[in-house]
Amino acid sequence: MEFAVISRDLTRVFGNFTAVDGLTMSIRTGEVCGFLGPNGAGKSTAIRMLCGILAPSSGNATILGYDLLRDSDTIKKNLGYMSQKFSLYEDLSVIENLNFYAGIYSVPRRQRSARIAEMLNLADIAERKDSVAATLSVGWKQRLALGCAVISRPSLLFLDEPTSGVSPTSRRQFFNIIQNLSNLGTTVIVTTHFMDEAERCDRIAFLSNGKLMAFDSPDNLKKDIIHGQMVELELLSPMDQLEHLKTQPFVQECSMHGSFLHILLKEPGDISALQDLTGVQPRPIKPTLEDVFVALARKEDEVI
Ligand SMILES: Nc1ncnc2c1ncn2[C@@H]1O[C@H](COP(=O)(O)OP(=O)(O)OP(=O)(O)O)[C@@H](O)[C@H]1O
Ligand SMILES: [Mg+2]
Repeated sequence: MEFAVISRDLTRVFGNFTAVDGLTMSIRTGEVCGFLGPNGAGKSTAIRMLCGILAPSSGNATILGYDLLRDSDTIKKNLGYMSQKFSLYEDLSVIENLNFYAGIYSVPRRQRSARIAEMLNLADIAERKDSVAATLSVGWKQRLALGCAVISRPSLLFLDEPTSGVSPTSRRQFFNIIQNLSNLGTTVIVTTHFMDEAERCDRIAFLSNGKLMAFDSPDNLKKDIIHGQMVELELLSPMDQLEHLKTQPFVQECSMHGSFLHILLKEPGDISALQDLTGVQPRPIKPTLEDVFVALARKEDEVI
């Protein structure tokens, strides 16, 4: 199957508010697809519809070859889902949690102990297998929740901000597991606010105000969305000059990245004009995904 998910004009309205607005996209089997966008963009709502948890107001989707509206029970059996507020049984041990979820997902009894061992290994939690979940750190809990979500070996996995609230090291470890699953053929749809995670996705769907603004690989997004020369500028008090720089004719974008300014110039020849203006030598840089999102957000402002 070429596409694990094909969504057509999927829309969800709450009252008179449209949370997801005509989502049309195809997600390839085995890819890691990142959903990105500001708070309230509609990422969780889109995922809940694609999982069959929330009914669309209009539109439809084909999930793993099944019709979302007609075959949602079959679809649910073949997917794993970890929500933004995942739930573990805090007073059960790691193994007991896995065993509990094996029951919920109807893993055949004969296969359960082997499958639990597989998940302990996959989530790298074997050394704490008898610990009560409540005593684990957030990073360990998230890996256990992931093990629980994939204990039935789903071919499609939805992860809604699985790594919020954990250390960068834990996040990297978690994403390694996601990529291993993808390499073994699982299609993974993951929402995140972290750019380092977005960089590791095969493709990124950028949502804003319920609309799909862009959907492509990180490299293609940078190529297609950023036209011009990106430079980095280190000023003593960058905030004071931000607005002034934005009004310059050769400046397309100007935003803060840590203590540096990222400035998108119209063309490489504008570097000297920027240097004359600020008295500081700009450094040419490759655009980051964050720059892409700044540009996309501006594009949307212009539309509205
Ligand atoms: N059950 C609901 N009833 C009414 N409004 C809702 C409901 N669920 C979501 N919304 C609204 O829909 C919009 C999209 O919410 P959603 O949770 O999908 O955003 P999100 O992109 O996941 O945001 P975040 O990054 O904060 O998780 C928000 O404005 C939210 O308030
Ligand atoms: Mg959300």
